Amino acid sequence: MENSKIRFAVVGCCNMANRHSDGIAAIDGAELVCVCDIDEAKAKKRSEERGVPYYLDYYEMLKAGGFEAVIICTPDQIHREQAVAALEAGYHVLCEKPLALTMEDCRAIVEASHKSKGIFMVGQVCRMTPGFVKAKELVDAGEIGDIFFIESEYAHDYSHINSPWRLDPVKLRHGITGGGCHAVDLIRWIAGDPTEVSAYSNHMVLDNWPVDDCTIAIMKFPSGALGKVFCSIGCKRNYTMRTVIYGTKGTIICDNRSPEIQLFQPKVNAEGRPYWEPDLYPVELKDHNAEEEVKLFYNAIVNGLSSPVPAEEGANTVAVCDACVRASASGKAEKPEYV
Ligand SMILES: NC(=O)c1ccc[n+]([C@@H]2O[C@H](COP(=O)([O-])OP(=O)(O)OC[C@H]3O[C@@H](n4cnc5c(N)ncnc54)[C@H](O)[C@@H]3O)[C@@H](O)[C@H]2O)c1
Repeated sequence: MENSKIRFAVVGCCNMANRHSDGIAAIDGAELVCVCDIDEAKAKKRSEERGVPYYLDYYEMLKAGGFEAVIICTPDQIHREQAVAALEAGYHVLCEKPLALTMEDCRAIVEASHKSKGIFMVGQVCRMTPGFVKAKELVDAGEIGDIFFIESEYAHDYSHINSPWRLDPVKLRHGITGGGCHAVDLIRWIAGDPTEVSAYSNHMVLDNWPVDDCTIAIMKFPSGALGKVFCSIGCKRNYTMRTVIYGTKGTIICDNRSPEIQLFQPKVNAEGRPYWEPDLYPVELKDHNAEEEVKLFYNAIVNGLSSPVPAEEGANTVAVCDACVRASASGKAEKPEYV
């Protein structure tokens, strides 16, 4: 099916949707055919920019059809209903992260993805960030030996963000799940699934937010390795996802905002003295690599491959985030409820 044309609909006319639309435009065999948003001004603007019709009603769009795949870029709280509806209608679906905000919603999407013939992919875009891809390649090649500790962070100042769904006081969007899921997913992708999580959180910066703005979680893995995630959505610094992977033979330092990653391995100078100088691997700076994400999704559709990031992966990342939230509330270690 190599030259098949895949037609896309994008729902949510926001910034991420724009990146996904760029991703579609970069693929010869892909075409954006319509957009959808409940906000008419946004839908109209995007429709004019992209030269495609718009819908205000998602279900009307699904019914009208004329496309094979849907990309969901709407608030996390409605991912479940929109993803399940698109899967039940037989479409391929790429849904933004986090998969959903509760395990109940995640399970419903996983179940619908099993019943559907369509491909379901969750947008855990750190798996496409060049620096993290290179780091995983080095880990998988054995360059740092066995991981004994991995830490990642999601430090991103949200004080300028005022979207009502992020501040919903009922359907809470915890920082560790909303944005912190990037760091949690990265850790899971590289080191596997932690069995237990302990966490503390506080709320000292974003006074008007209904959730804690800082969480530190530590976790243990079946191998004996340890992990740590620091998530702050109120920090006063530039956005970073600095990640350090400590192995028995070496250490990797990487980030979503650095043009290179560092690999430390023991070195000995001419006099036989140990010294530390990292090998540097230049990487492209693409920290929201939706282009690659859409390309992987498209390739899976046209070549009949399995999903590059299936619903289970998104759900299990949320399971760890959920354990972090429960652990910081209970003061006890909690186990993720994996699907
Ligand atoms: N991958 C990343 O790094 C990344 C970055 C930012 C956001 N996100 C995710 O992308 C999604 C969108 O986030 P955002 O920051 O662009 O949000 P946003 O609030 O800027 O945009 C969401 C859009 O969805 C529209 N919308 C709301 N309900 C709708 C409905 N029922 N039908 C159609 N449209 C509807 C809104 O009008 C709005 O235009 C979220 O899931 C978020 O977590 C991912």
